Amino acid sequence: MKYSPWSQDAARLLLATLRDEKGPVLMALQLMQNEFGYVHSECVPLIANFFNISRAEVHGVLTFYHDLRITPPGEHQISLCVAEACQAVGARDLEKKVKAKFPDEATDSYCFGNCALGPAVMVDGVLIGRATLSKIEEARR
Ligand code: FES
Repeated sequence: MKYSPWSQDAARLLLATLRDEKGPVLMALQLMQNEFGYVHSECVPLIANFFNISRAEVHGVLTFYHDLRITPPGEHQISLCVAEACQAVGARDLEKKVKAKFPDEATDSYCFGNCALGPAVMVDGVLIGRATLSKIEEARR
């Protein structure tokens, strides 16, 4: 996936699109991540100042959602379902292997609605059922 390089000016332009939204902190963080690939550390004070809330409130939302990244993403994005149905068929073991091999690419997710074919993994937006490390490696190519 291609992302724009981080810049405060670009971030401010994105925030301006949310001026009339209610409860916009999560939307603002998602906008930043969609644009830059992650939520840059300077986004927290920028969002707090823009919406006149505390940095702690923004930080709380940022750290609550596992899908929000605070570091630049790797070349590929691997989302591993670690919800109950996938855990029952080995998702945690697969998670350990994937995170050891691709630490800057792997994130946890909670159910893709593909529970019958777990462990479920999404690689660059493509869903993989009955996922294995070799299937994930193949999908990254
Ligand atoms: S629990 Fe993993 S896809 Fe639903």
